[in-house]
Amino acid sequence: MCGIVGYIGKQKALPIIIEGLKRLEYRGYDSAGLATIGDNEILITRMSGKVAELEKALPADIDNGSLALGHTRWATHGEPTERNAHPHKDCEHKIALVHNGIIENFQAIRTKLEQVGHKFTSDTDTEVLAHLIEEMFKYTGDLVDSVRLALKEVDGAYGIAVISVHEPDYIIVARKGSPLVIGIGDGEHFVASDAAALVRHTRNVVYLEDGEVAVLTRDNFTTTTIDNVEVEKTVHEITFDIEQIEKAGYPHFMLKEIHEQPDTISDALRGRILFEEGDVKLGGLSDVIDDLRNAKRFIITACGTSWHAGLVGEYMIEQYARVPVEIEYASEFRYSNPIITENDIVWAISQSGETADTLAAVREAKLRGAKVFGIVNVVGSSIARETDGGVYIHAGPEIGVASTKAFTSQLTVISLITVMMARLRGMSITDGYKILSDLKSIPEKVKGILDQSEYIKDIAERFSFARNFLYLGRGYNFPVALEGALKLKEISYIHAEGYPAAEMKHGPIALIDENMPVVVIATHDASYDKVMSNIQEVKARRGKIIAIANDNDSEIDRYANYVIRVPETLDLFSPIISSIPLQLLAYYIAVYRGCNVDQPRNLAKSVTVE
Ligand code: AGP
Repeated sequence: MCGIVGYIGKQKALPIIIEGLKRLEYRGYDSAGLATIGDNEILITRMSGKVAELEKALPADIDNGSLALGHTRWATHGEPTERNAHPHKDCEHKIALVHNGIIENFQAIRTKLEQVGHKFTSDTDTEVLAHLIEEMFKYTGDLVDSVRLALKEVDGAYGIAVISVHEPDYIIVARKGSPLVIGIGDGEHFVASDAAALVRHTRNVVYLEDGEVAVLTRDNFTTTTIDNVEVEKTVHEITFDIEQIEKAGYPHFMLKEIHEQPDTISDALRGRILFEEGDVKLGGLSDVIDDLRNAKRFIITACGTSWHAGLVGEYMIEQYARVPVEIEYASEFRYSNPIITENDIVWAISQSGETADTLAAVREAKLRGAKVFGIVNVVGSSIARETDGGVYIHAGPEIGVASTKAFTSQLTVISLITVMMARLRGMSITDGYKILSDLKSIPEKVKGILDQSEYIKDIAERFSFARNFLYLGRGYNFPVALEGALKLKEISYIHAEGYPAAEMKHGPIALIDENMPVVVIATHDASYDKVMSNIQEVKARRGKIIAIANDNDSEIDRYANYVIRVPETLDLFSPIISSIPLQLLAYYIAVYRGCNVDQPRNLAKSVTVE
């Protein structure tokens, strides 16, 4: 959701804040702002729109001291206008604050504060915090205590950073539910909602935990609980490079990330396959092998694209390991009063590791006594830290809001888990070897599909004016149909639906006419013949068929208007292969429609609110 950057040190703060905000813009991009401390008052510049607009709007004479806060917003309460942009301040312009999250009881607090004379200037939930801190300061005269007391009054989620003329050499930060990372430099400290904003300046970071408050000065930082109990923090090292969060000559992060997939899939496999043993070694699960062996049921929980990866996982694990699997949307799971026994294992899948619903599902499952494991991309993220074990997918930073490389890396890791589980439950070395050999060949196969980009671009141009799209797949490729439709709708704003192919005749078939493009995943797997029948049903109604089919399939040419060829694989890996052309198709359609591919409207990369 929103992005936060703060700096206190010896350099000019504003260039650091602007650069950091640009790196965080994928988190939210409807308005932006920053605050510095001037002559006994807070100075704020805010704009609706992108960080570039904010940069242009900065007054030439703006105080450019060595302390500032910045924010890029994804609106929850109040329209994305200048008055609702962060930072927000108190009545006296002495305190400024940026916030990521939602203050759920803001209305009640606001009413009370208005009754004692506070004047509000925005429609946001955040502004109440600035006034609440102001109110507490009247009684305590201590800024850090006032922040603590104010936070005790609020329900909901927050990552905040506060500056004030009362303590002009402090940045106070606090977290509950929304990520914050502190960067440690030499005579300087940084704070951000994502390490991507810090990596240019430092590799040493400290992750704030829920319920913690930290005070950053130039030379030091101290962390306490909200009740003022001191907390010892561990310094971690950021492992990714600056190049990984830049576009490397591609016009968009999404295209770069699609093209990175041969490497990211290899990275997800690296050092994890034991060919001679037909087995897999996953360090993050080695201590819990007995739990996995004895598990009676898996529950997979996730949101969006990660949920689609989980759905493929259900098919894989049930087929090969014969463990019953349930897949639940995290947002539903947390409120469904789930039945969990001690023999159940809950898997949380999340690229960011910060998705509020998935994190809440993890906590709910733990509360009910389950062992919870994560399949996560962002190292050190909340889900990675709060689970009992798990596997990193090692896809590197994913900046494009539409998830691409994280999806195929999630599938790769779930494939490894499948083999591991199947071997624990009696699969032979030979069968394990066969599956792993095919998995090892996937990166090369993905390269071959990427080589067809021009052809896919050509198809995209023809369909860029479509108003609707239908995606059909069966078995392993039903989740791919869902994922293909999600990719298209989120970046091109074309209405798209994914369906199990056989379900088409139970309703969606009514939509098909000569204007309806239907993408069908028709690779040679167990349901190939059935999918061919579904294709004929579409053709009979003059729908336009774009088929994803195997290289050696000549039959398909008789029915499909366009065929995108993909190499053969074992059925379980077909989703990794088939999703690549669908990513490219969505990408090029969005580009032809002039859409902002990396930052589609209304979306944000990491959904840290409910
Ligand atoms: C994917 O393209 C989406 N932007 C979105 O569905 C995403 O997958 C979802 O919000 C879950 O995010 P996570 O993997 O970071 O938890």
